[in-house]
Amino acid sequence: MHRLHSLALGAVTALALVAGSAQAASLSREPYLQRVGTDSATVAFRLSASCAPTVYYGTHGSTDQRVTAPNPATKHAVELSGLEPGTAYTYVVDACGARTNPVTFSTASKPGVRRVHFTTVGDFGSNSDDQKQVARAMLGRAPELFLALGDNAYESGTEAEFQRNLFEPMAPLLAQVPFFAVPGNHEYETNQGQPYFDNLYLPTSSTGGESYYSFDWGFVHFVAIDSSCALGLAPSSRCTPAAQRQWVEEDLAASTAPWKIAFMHYPPWSSGEHGSQPNIRKQFAPLFEEYGVDLVLTGHDHDYERSQPMKGDAVAASGTRAPVYLVVGSGGAGLRDMSTSSKPSWSVLRNNGDHGYLDVKAEDGTLTAQMLTPSGKVMDSFTLTKELPPEPEPPPATADETTPTPGQPDPAPTPAPSPSPSGGTNPLPTGAETAEDLGPTAAGCSAGPAMALLPGAILVFAGALRRRRR
Ligand SMILES: [Fe+2]
Repeated sequence: MHRLHSLALGAVTALALVAGSAQAASLSREPYLQRVGTDSATVAFRLSASCAPTVYYGTHGSTDQRVTAPNPATKHAVELSGLEPGTAYTYVVDACGARTNPVTFSTASKPGVRRVHFTTVGDFGSNSDDQKQVARAMLGRAPELFLALGDNAYESGTEAEFQRNLFEPMAPLLAQVPFFAVPGNHEYETNQGQPYFDNLYLPTSSTGGESYYSFDWGFVHFVAIDSSCALGLAPSSRCTPAAQRQWVEEDLAASTAPWKIAFMHYPPWSSGEHGSQPNIRKQFAPLFEEYGVDLVLTGHDHDYERSQPMKGDAVAASGTRAPVYLVVGSGGAGLRDMSTSSKPSWSVLRNNGDHGYLDVKAEDGTLTAQMLTPSGKVMDSFTLTKELPPEPEPPPATADETTPTPGQPDPAPTPAPSPSPSGGTNPLPTGAETAEDLGPTAAGCSAGPAMALLPGAILVFAGALRRRRR
């Protein structure tokens, strides 16, 4: 055969092979947003065949920028860098012939921005219809971020279960809402949580890597705790209880954010099936109290429960500032019986009759949380308040300044909140208009009207009737 002809045939063959492999590639796992910060974001996904994909992205709905993975592979986590804070970005994954539909997310707003909206829930990773409905409802709220409270992939957190019980049923949410997770006990059943760490791309801490970490989103400081590690279940090479506790203390002490929220799987306070975890409480409650954590978000028990503001092993004295503990374990696994027939005195409200999620909005000195079912029924509603110093005036615009980037405002960093005269949070000024509480309410924590619609005793009986095991 003539050499030139041979080369041409070879080129055609090579092109055919390339085209063939391109056609063979598809996304075996839809994109999910990880490690989203003020100036970067990771778009992770999996492919059915090895190739070097490109992520196209941009603002204002365009996708005029691109990052191409350096090497062919089936497992990808492509980092977008040089992003603007608090800004909407649209992205598309182009993987050798497979191209996703454009979707949009927002980067984290700067630490001084006094408006943050997030949703959270745990105990969902079951591929159940309830999980899908909860995820769909959360996406409908258009939160900036989503906190996953553990038991993200039943039954044992295997690689296959992460695919089937987390990424597939929650794909639309995870493609558009950055999510930050903590591991549950079920993830720890496989190789001490290794598939969890293999599949997620989380912020890291100096001593614990991805096991525990913190990040700021606007004026909220979030601290993620590995409660299985706290119980001594992690390999010491990854995480030890002592190192984690020390890091949490140093991290909280260093934060000047006006709002501080901790999240982990095991609940320090719960009257659900498994009950309170005194070991976890002993390790972290003193830190939460000393460094002004406002909310502690947990799961594990398959119900919803809200505590009074708690100090030590008791309800905090009226008028003092103390953390409120929530169990939000109603994300999709079967709901469970409570461990006590009547509501403990420290418990404000509990519900094991509905699946649902928590929707939280912090704006200036007011944090408003709603526990919602997928159909929009409000299971619980409460507000925390505190005094913040006046927001600094933005500097006057100069003549050569260009039009600001769309997104959230960009004020100067917010100083730490000034203590109220009592040293605690302040009562909700409008509480008398909205609250019809079921028990004593500490300063700074007011219940909304929905609580009156769902008395705890009725909820317990409703839950007992639908007893299911997971
Ligand atoms: Fe659990």
